[in-house]
Amino acid sequence: MAWRDACANKGGGVVLVPSIGRFLVLPVLLQGPCNGLIQLQINGDLLASSDKAFATGYSWFKFYRVTNLVIQGLGRFLGQGETAWPYNTCKHGPCTRLPITISLQSIDIVRITNITSLNSKLGHFKVHGCNDVVFDNVTVIAPEDSPNTDGIHISKSTGVTIMNSIIATGDDCISFGPGSKDVNITNVHCGPGHGISIGSLGKYQNEPNIDGITVRDSKFVGTKNGIQIKTWSKSYSSVVSNLTFVNLKMYNVESPIIINQNYCPHNACNNNKVSVSRIQIKDVKYENIRGTSAKQLAVTLNCSQVVPCQGIVLNNINLAFNGTGSSTSICQNIKGSASGPQLPPSCL
Ligand SMILES: *[C@@H]1O[C@H](CO)[C@@H](O)[C@H](O)[C@H]1NC(C)=O
Ligand SMILES: *[C@@H]1O[C@H](CO)[C@@H](O)[C@H](O)[C@H]1NC(C)=O
Ligand SMILES: *[C@@H]1O[C@H](CO)[C@@H](O)[C@H](O)[C@H]1NC(C)=O
Ligand SMILES: *[C@@H]1O[C@H](CO)[C@@H](O)[C@H](O)[C@H]1NC(C)=O
Ligand SMILES: *[C@@H]1O[C@H](CO)[C@@H](O)[C@H](O)[C@H]1NC(C)=O
Ligand SMILES: *[C@@H]1O[C@H](CO)[C@@H](O)[C@H](O)[C@H]1NC(C)=O
Repeated sequence: MAWRDACANKGGGVVLVPSIGRFLVLPVLLQGPCNGLIQLQINGDLLASSDKAFATGYSWFKFYRVTNLVIQGLGRFLGQGETAWPYNTCKHGPCTRLPITISLQSIDIVRITNITSLNSKLGHFKVHGCNDVVFDNVTVIAPEDSPNTDGIHISKSTGVTIMNSIIATGDDCISFGPGSKDVNITNVHCGPGHGISIGSLGKYQNEPNIDGITVRDSKFVGTKNGIQIKTWSKSYSSVVSNLTFVNLKMYNVESPIIINQNYCPHNACNNNKVSVSRIQIKDVKYENIRGTSAKQLAVTLNCSQVVPCQGIVLNNINLAFNGTGSSTSICQNIKGSASGPQLPPSCL
């Protein structure tokens, strides 16, 4: 009701969650259009239900069709995922989905500041069909072994900035689906987690392209991947271009740099109607990436046989194997160049 009133108010309004108390909130749709800027000022803790009845559904908080939205405050979204993770059976085939903590759909101009999301049931944040989105000083936490607790997933959105944030979770820290454009990630701590992933891409026909993602001045601590680009081994065509990864520190990361156009877990792609990956990856720059790799194979650039990667640049790479021997790299179906010091020795 507070949302409805603030949204209807001419000139906008504030919905306040007071700092004293913990507020149990059942799944809620917060919908626009509103008559002005609407601000969710979260000073206290919001608590998701631990009842099994609420362990399914699309999201816990869904924001839909709003222009000018602010979500801020030192409050926390407590997802109570620990009570729902046992119902996540998605590893074993078709399953009921658990809800995402915060879903932003069709939102133009949104600022999310100082917020914490703890133990989401599925992903923490999902951004779809939005323009002009800023996450600043956001904290995302879930255990390393929690299932599918992606930090921030972005798709079909333009103009997204994620800065000064800490993401420690069980799946990708940040992931990008089709149609992600003009993204700027600066000063993010990722780990534990699966790193920053572009993909998986190409599962469906007519996926929009991905263009213009920059990740800079960030660190990855004990993650599965650092920067990953992943397409299904049998995938429909689209283009991923203009990506820049610069000034990144890796601490004991399993695969710090990886392009995998041969992704097919549990043979899940075998009934796709295409036989190879048709996704073109081009103009990707890796510059000043340093630290340690937990596996000897620190750089994997495995591209498509039919549309080889183009314009891949490795500049000043220093990734030492945290073990005996020197780190290594592999290249397949790729065109590009390397300059400056290269550890592992470049295969380009
Ligand atoms: C974020 O938190 C800091 C420290 O409490 C405060 O100074 C700042 O105003 C907050 N920003 C917003 C947008 O609430
Ligand atoms: C970032 O948010 C945290 C709360 O999660 C707050 O304690 C801290 O002061 C904020 N930092 C800044 C620089 O606003
Ligand atoms: C990304 O953000 C950083 C820090 O705020 C800024 O310096 C840089 O210009 C931005 N880059 C783009 C492409 O917006
Ligand atoms: C690359 O992406 C950036 C945004 O990250 C954009 O500003 C720039 O125009 C793009 N460059 C090309 C050649 O598309
Ligand atoms: C090497 O790996 C061990 C765990 O196997 C870890 O404790 C240590 O911090 C790592 N060192 C570096 C420099 O990454
Ligand atoms: C690279 O991809 C090819 C298929 O295109 C696959 O056969 C090979 O095992 C992959 N290599 C690595 C090291 O992942």
